[in-house]
Amino acid sequence: MCGIVGYIGKNKKAIEVLINGLENLEYRGYDSAGIAYISDNELNIIKEKGRIQNLKNNLNLNTESRLGIGHTRWATHGAANKNNAHPHRCNNITIVHNGIIENYIELKEELMNIGYTFKSETDTEVASALIDYLYSKYNSMDKAIIEFENKAKGAYAIGIIVNGNNDNLYAIKKGSPLIIGVGNNENYIASDVPAIISYTKKYITLNDGEYAKISEDNIEVYNEFGKIINKEIKEFEGDANSIDKCGYEHYMNKEIHEQPEVIKKTSDMDNLPNINNFSKITIVACGSAMHAGLVGKNLIENYGNIPVDVEIASEFRYKKLFLNKDNLVIAISQSGETADTLEAVKIAKKYGCHTLGIINVKESSIARECDDVLYTKAGSEIAVATTKAYSAQVEILSILAYTLAKNSDNVKSIVEIKNFLEDLKKLPIVMQEVIDDEDTYKNIANKIYNKNDIFFIGRGIDYALSMEGSLKLKEISYLHSEAYAAGELKHGTISLIDDNTPVLGIVSDEFISDKTISNLKEVKSRGANVIYITTDSLNKNGDFYDDKIVLPTVNPLLQPLVNIIPLQLIAYNVAKLNNCDIDKPKNLAKSVTVE
Ligand code: AGP
Repeated sequence: MCGIVGYIGKNKKAIEVLINGLENLEYRGYDSAGIAYISDNELNIIKEKGRIQNLKNNLNLNTESRLGIGHTRWATHGAANKNNAHPHRCNNITIVHNGIIENYIELKEELMNIGYTFKSETDTEVASALIDYLYSKYNSMDKAIIEFENKAKGAYAIGIIVNGNNDNLYAIKKGSPLIIGVGNNENYIASDVPAIISYTKKYITLNDGEYAKISEDNIEVYNEFGKIINKEIKEFEGDANSIDKCGYEHYMNKEIHEQPEVIKKTSDMDNLPNINNFSKITIVACGSAMHAGLVGKNLIENYGNIPVDVEIASEFRYKKLFLNKDNLVIAISQSGETADTLEAVKIAKKYGCHTLGIINVKESSIARECDDVLYTKAGSEIAVATTKAYSAQVEILSILAYTLAKNSDNVKSIVEIKNFLEDLKKLPIVMQEVIDDEDTYKNIANKIYNKNDIFFIGRGIDYALSMEGSLKLKEISYLHSEAYAAGELKHGTISLIDDNTPVLGIVSDEFISDKTISNLKEVKSRGANVIYITTDSLNKNGDFYDDKIVLPTVNPLLQPLVNIIPLQLIAYNVAKLNNCDIDKPKNLAKSVTVE
């Protein structure tokens, strides 16, 4: 997803605000970046391929300017190059855009038929031309924006500067996040709060269809019919510190180390929704959030006695569904803006399902769409590869499983969850001990960082953890990796196991630990370099492994929160050894707000 920032005011230099904001948004996408600003009544547009630094090299941050918009891009339409970088200008209209204009091809044809020409491959340039056409037709930005919203299909957050009008900044929101930062004699627009947190913690969220006309001392918000509406000014709970590395080399490492604190904060889950009376739970999510859902499935089924389906949201959207009002649909999302997950919630509601969000960003689109929301208290997560938010998601699912178990007559659940709340209180200390064992993870990383086919295997909940461990390694170190159900490996894929193929085997489920160890023996006998990750209560000695990580045994409902830490830190150290861009891996963005 892209990052948008805008400024209008008399207290600061617009360029400084824009660059600072873009640097705080760069985790959202970083293929290219650009700014447009008014200085000496002239509109200037500077944009560069690649990182914000490339842009800064071409700017004088002290240039006097009171109005500007900026953008950092994750390419959806058109290559990641300077020509496709935002802002895009068409005559009197200059815009930055996050999202996708789905009907941009037909709009482009219509505009070309009336004489418009285009330089880039982007849908954004088409949007700037359409707004320009409508503005010249009506000589009114209000009418132009209202008709633009009727014509442009898809999701968009747009910041607009109008040539010759240096007193106003415009913003349109439909399907992609956009907030207005509220200052004194200055105002801002941004994709999310980190962009402007160092200037103001007061913000207004725009809802779909709303647009704003913003001057340095006034903010007017209109609905899609052009009617002015009142909006509440909210206060962001975090602080600038939450977007600072605080001495860590990477945000990812900082956020891994924040997990004990996050677990402590998220455990304070008051007014849990009553989820006892549903016949089935369906979890919809993407990526790591989906992996958290797989862990949750295991815990809720084993302890809460309710069947759980876990659906990849992009699959869920287009498949035949058998949902009804007795089903609970849980949407898991760190950003709360993932397009596929948002759409899945809307579909679930059409089936009459009750929807519960497990979300990290307050007031995000998915949070606002769900009937109920449980907020993970992970704080701003800047690293593109999620760690603390994933763990907080797992924790909430564990708490839901415990809550269901408390109300079930399942003898197994009563025996095994009786100390849950006590164990949850102690968990952050245990997690800290595991995090501190860094040399162990560095040692493992040294053995696998130059391999290119790395397997993670496990059964049951350990298979779900394997999937997250494999994704972490892939997305930040670019090494190929695969998670496999340990019992399934012998049905074909074991043919890929060669001398020294790294296989990380996770063995933490007492019920099936012997089976997984048998699978480790199978790969070891074929030359694999086995890293055996287990708990002290299941620890076995033998010749079926080359390295062993023994983790503290905790309440089974909480064990995944301990087991994931070595996988996160091994991935982190492998990526460091490979000099990868850990916080901003290539091709990725922090949240995917497009299909
Ligand atoms: C996580 O490391 C990935 N960056 C990605 O899989 C992410 O979990 C996924 O895109 C879902 O994002 P969300 O939690 O914001 O919905």
